[in-house]
This record gives sequence, structure tokens and C-alpha cells, in this order.
Amino acid sequence: MPSPRSDWGKVQRLARSACTRTPQQRRLQLRLHAAVGPGACVLVAGATGGVGQLVTAKLLDRGYQVRALCRNREKATQLFPPEQSKKIEIVYADLRDASAAQRLTESIDAVCCVTGTTAFPSQRWKGNNGPQQTDYVSVKNLIDACPGNLQRFILNTSAGVDRSGSLPFSILNLFGVLRYKKEAERVLQSSGLPYTIVRPGRLTDGPYTSYDLNTLLQATSGSRQNIRLSPNDDLNGQTSRLACAEAIVQALQSNIVENRAFALESSDGQGPGSDAAQWKALFSAL
Ligand SMILES: NC(=O)c1ccc[n+]([C@@H]2O[C@H](COP(=O)([O-])OP(=O)(O)OC[C@H]3O[C@@H](n4cnc5c(N)ncnc54)[C@H](OP(=O)(O)O)[C@@H]3O)[C@@H](O)[C@H]2O)c1
Repeated sequence: MPSPRSDWGKVQRLARSACTRTPQQRRLQLRLHAAVGPGACVLVAGATGGVGQLVTAKLLDRGYQVRALCRNREKATQLFPPEQSKKIEIVYADLRDASAAQRLTESIDAVCCVTGTTAFPSQRWKGNNGPQQTDYVSVKNLIDACPGNLQRFILNTSAGVDRSGSLPFSILNLFGVLRYKKEAERVLQSSGLPYTIVRPGRLTDGPYTSYDLNTLLQATSGSRQNIRLSPNDDLNGQTSRLACAEAIVQALQSNIVENRAFALESSDGQGPGSDAAQWKALFSAL
């Protein structure tokens, strides 16, 4: 946490610069950065997905209230059986429908958005469910539906969003997945909401389709626990879904990465696990 003195210095700097800014920029600038701690109500969009189920399990374990946004009732009931779902509020919506998104965001404090689809044509694209609708339209609908006092919107996108014209990302982007993710990043960055953008590389570990939430918390990424972060889109390694979910939860609790984007990869070696002090050091070095 910044000391009261450094907060005061920041207020003075912001007040000085406020004179030259528009009212919207002033509202943005004068808000002090805030971490979102346990007890807060977090909407997890894509809660039944590979990263989403891990984010949900970690948030519940750390004392957050979770509103799990799901689309598929069968999958949701399997993943969040009634005895565990007492602690979770499960809501159903397809984010392609803007009015459905509006109904889900009442009194939330933060959003972790880990929705996604395949980069190449697949069964999942059936019914106008490809990257444009999933990675751009749905994310924009969710951003537009958020209350103005939201404390953080964490958006999971991908390595390559700034390199979609060069190999190997130009291949991954043949059907536009990186372009639409980048457009969603831009919408979030200009929304005025406090945000963090997380850009993992190719995801490994999971999805743990037949695990319950307690078992999910025991999963490890084996020998690949080392974490590397970068403020730029310049990492090419793979990323464990466990590391990605942990980074999202740690980012929620950190004011250092508010209004920042970072890339993330996992490699052989020891890592921070769920140690907040080690994540703080990684975030501070960005
Ligand atoms: N796979 C990789 O190597 C890789 C690499 C970098 C980044 N990423 C990105 O990382 C994120 C997480 O990946 P993942 O593999 O964990 O994802 P995933 O298992 O494919 O899960 C995606 C989730 O999003 C939900 N969803 C999709 N469209 C929706 C909509 N219109 N309304 C509501 N929910 C919707 C899905 O619900 P349904 O089950 O109902 O479809 C599912 O729960 C994705 O954004 C992905 O693009 C992936």
C-alpha cells in the first residue's frame, strides 16, 4: 500500500494536472488507485472455462463473493454442485446479448473477464459464436454494463495482440482473434473504468473438466512454476492456466497494476505460487 505521504503527493500532482484536462479525464485522474480485497463481490465472466473455473475457486478460497456468469447450465451444475455453490451466486447469460449483460452487474465491485473461444473454426463457432462476437462484442457489452463505481475490470486477452501482423501470431490471427481481443482492450482502456489487462501465452495445464472446486485448488503446474511478466507484448513462452488465474486474482488485490497491461509466461523453476509479497515484487518490477 502507498504511504499516506505518497498518496498526498499524488493528489497534489493530479490536482495540478487536472486544470488542463477535460472533466472526464479529471474524474479518471483524481481517483486514487485501489486494490479489491476479500469480501468484495466479483463477477467472473466465463466461470465454466479453463481459466475461469480456477479464478472462481481461488476467489472463493480467499473470501470473495463470486457471481459466476455462465452460459451452459449443464456445465455449471457439474462444476459448481449445490453443496459448493452456496457460496457462489450463479447467473446465466450470453454476453452477446447486451440487455442480458445489463442485468448481471448490479452491485458488483469488480469483474474478471476470462471468456473466449477457439482461434480457428470449430464446433464452438456454431450460431455466430466466433471471435468477433466472443472476444469483441461480448466483452464490449460487459464493459458497457458495468457500474461507474466499479473498482476493477480485469480482462484476460492474449500474447500477440500487438504483434498480430508478424509470425507466428499472424497465423493465430487468421480469423481475427487477436484483432478482436485488441479492440476489446481499447474499449476497456477508453471506458474510464479502472482496469488490468493480462496477456498470457499459449495456455497449458487444464482445463480440469472433471474437478470440483476443492480439488482444483490442489492442482499444480509441476516444475514450471517460474513466472515472468512484461509490460510489453514481447513474451513468447507458454503460460499455465494456474499461473494465469493466480495472476488475475493477485492483480485484483494490487493497486500497482491498476490501469496497466502485462504479459505473462510460466517456465521451469520455482515461482511465487500464491504468495502476495512475491507477486507484489513482480508487479513492482513491471
Ligand atoms: N488457449 C490458449 O492457448 C490461449 C492463449 C492465450 C489466451 N487465451 C485466452 O484465455 C482465455 C481463457 O482461455 P480458456 O482456455 O480458459 O477458455 P475456455 O475454456 O475456452 O472458456 C471460455 C469461457 O467463456 C465462456 N463464453 C464464451 N462466450 C461467451 C458468451 N458470449 N457469453 C458468456 N460466456 C461466454 C465459455 O462459456 P461456454 O462454455 O458456454 O462456451 C467458457 O466458460 C480466453 O479468452 C482465451 O482466448 C487462450
